[in-house]
Amino acid sequence: MSHRRPLVVANWKMNNGIAETIKFVSEFNRTTFAEDVEVVICPPFTSLYTLSVLLSDKQSILMGAQNCHSDERGAFTGEISVDFLKEVFCHYVIVGHSERRQYFHEDNVFLSKKIVTSIENDLIPIYCVGESEIERDQMKTFEVIQKQLAEGLKPVAKDDITKVVIAYEPIWAIGTGKTATPGQAEEVHGFIRKWVSQNIGSSYANDVRIIYGGSVKPDNMGSLIEMENIDGALVGGASLHPGDFHKIIECCS
Ligand code: PGA
Repeated sequence: MSHRRPLVVANWKMNNGIAETIKFVSEFNRTTFAEDVEVVICPPFTSLYTLSVLLSDKQSILMGAQNCHSDERGAFTGEISVDFLKEVFCHYVIVGHSERRQYFHEDNVFLSKKIVTSIENDLIPIYCVGESEIERDQMKTFEVIQKQLAEGLKPVAKDDITKVVIAYEPIWAIGTGKTATPGQAEEVHGFIRKWVSQNIGSSYANDVRIIYGGSVKPDNMGSLIEMENIDGALVGGASLHPGDFHKIIECCS
């Protein structure tokens, strides 16, 4: 395992309103885990404040949002500002999840603005990249990832690159139960780190955290985290179960 601190992020998506969040925390609190793993929970916006109160005595668990807008304020009905996320104690924000790209047509250039706004406001963006099944079948995986990295990270200052977490999430593995094999995931993680090294600098590449997402479960996390370039996980479905989420964290310890 590398010098990079492992990071495990729960992406609850549109699940767990306030009552369910309270229930989750009361179950999750019965367990303890080693503090060498950084744990982040990203609930829906309306559960953020409640979660922040419930976690106020748990310094090892941080909170993140699932989305933000690129502008800090203004006439953007239905959107959320990074400022408001800070107010409810978020440290992280997921940017460019494939569901946002696919269903809400968010493109690399728009996402790059969100990344910059997040960094400027001391929120750590978790920038998601990943190919579809068709793109993989057509051997376009590296081409797609390269474009997502080049366009999405273009306006980020060199020295800020380690303030970004990169999440590799192959779309064909999200919510399908079809996890990438450790070898498949490592191949792309290695490619991403090499891209950062060649385009930004080798010392940055060494420090930037690259996490894997897509059907992560307690029984596959152990073999994924053993890979040299996999620094943790972005967990959807399994993070809704306190016991499974706890086991995934333990695998990364
Ligand atoms: P999954 O989702 O773990 O349910 O596949 C991961 C994600 O979409 O972030």
